[in-house]
Amino acid sequence: MKINDLKVVYDAQAIAARVAEMGQEINRLYAGEELVVVCVLKGAFMFFADLVRHLDMRPELDFVRVASYGSSTSTCGTVSFTKDVEVPLQGKHVLLVEDIVDTGHTVDFLFRQLAARGAKSLRLAALVDKQERRAVPVRVDFAGFALPGGFIVGYGLDYAERYRELPGIYEAVIEPEGA
Ligand code: IMP
Ligand code: MG
Repeated sequence: MKINDLKVVYDAQAIAARVAEMGQEINRLYAGEELVVVCVLKGAFMFFADLVRHLDMRPELDFVRVASYGSSTSTCGTVSFTKDVEVPLQGKHVLLVEDIVDTGHTVDFLFRQLAARGAKSLRLAALVDKQERRAVPVRVDFAGFALPGGFIVGYGLDYAERYRELPGIYEAVIEPEGA
């Protein structure tokens, strides 16, 4: 499969404006609280970097990485850590930062794992809430954009590790090789 065309879905300016609003919402909710903000690598790296610059509660920052099995554009139910959190979560509020919630398997796995570490609360900020293929119910506490479906790239999101560097988000028109 290859990408034949890229169509702008959210440009850099729209993303920056929305991320700033999300930062303020998060500041209001956690004012005066101890917060650990956890980035789900790799896709959330750019969103995370921009979001945390709006936070004013001096959060602790950490990173996780998971491997999920499935095709290049979809996740099935098997998810495992390839990098766990390093900061102790016991008694702290935890905010998980994810690029996209699609089937919900990745977030479901992470929530179960992190809940077992004794966090005081566990919430989710996702840049894009994509509902069409949801297989596991997931509560998105802070959603950047809601998208019915489609496959998107840019602003951290990849197709086969490419397009992550793009400052905007694009819908990828994918067609089978030779089509
Ligand atoms: P889920 O486990 O199906 O919810 O999938 C979550 C992961 O799949 C995200 O963290 C993304 O890395 C990837 N993903 C899902 N949809 C897209 C997309 O449209 N573009 C790029 N990556 C996606
Ligand atoms: Mg990905």
